[in-house]
Amino acid sequence: MQHTSRSVTSNQPGPHQDVVRRVERALAHPLRKPIADHTRLAFEQAEAWRRQQPAPLIIDAGCGVGLSTRRLAQRFPDHCVIGVDRSADRLGRDHGELPGNALLVRADLVDFWRLAREAQWAPVRHYLLYPNPYPKSSHLKMRWHGHPVFPTLLALGGRLELRSNWDLYVEEFAQAVQVVTGREAAVAQVTPSGDYLTPFEAKYDQSGQALWRLTIDLEQP
Ligand SMILES: C[S@@+](CC[C@H](N)C(=O)[O-])C[C@H]1O[C@@H](n2cnc3c(N)ncnc32)[C@H](O)[C@@H]1O
Repeated sequence: MQHTSRSVTSNQPGPHQDVVRRVERALAHPLRKPIADHTRLAFEQAEAWRRQQPAPLIIDAGCGVGLSTRRLAQRFPDHCVIGVDRSADRLGRDHGELPGNALLVRADLVDFWRLAREAQWAPVRHYLLYPNPYPKSSHLKMRWHGHPVFPTLLALGGRLELRSNWDLYVEEFAQAVQVVTGREAAVAQVTPSGDYLTPFEAKYDQSGQALWRLTIDLEQP
């Protein structure tokens, strides 16, 4: 099926001028918002599942319908893959049986990441595939690199991969990574050639949009 999708439009002409300030604030003031009970329960269930999997962990953060979780589980059969999304509707769609080394979890990542850190999870790979761009300049704090949880996400370590159809999102994310780690992330264009990891990737690529990938090997905690 062919898709059409418009590229991101934003009132920002370039990277947001407050990225560095927001990240510095997140580093100075760790998030204290209480953890919601439903995410705590979902995390406990994920933790119980993970204890039964003697395999390195991959997190698929914001997995949507979980296609990428399935694909990653097939691509890395000797790893266990946990896909997390807050949308019950997306997670509930039927995209076939889950491989035995994959789990889908309904949870809010802001809380899930903090619980994962507390429990000393150390994913070897961590994917953020096509997060919501929140393109309005006033919405910087809703982008993952502008959110107070950002340092926690990086502290989990492993090979982090972000993909987006918005080059500014990736550029800002790289800037934020630099503030926290002092290191430069690699940024390159993604050319899926029909081998799509997610439905959003398929939709954007089939609409002729450029796709971007950022990767960084973070220190294991
Ligand atoms: C643009 S969609 C991309 C979905 C999928 N990765 C893909 O590429 O097809 C962004 C996803 O992130 C999820 N999401 C956004 N904020 C979230 C949060 N705080 N916790 C968990 N999931 C979240 C949304 O429910 C949505 O499924």
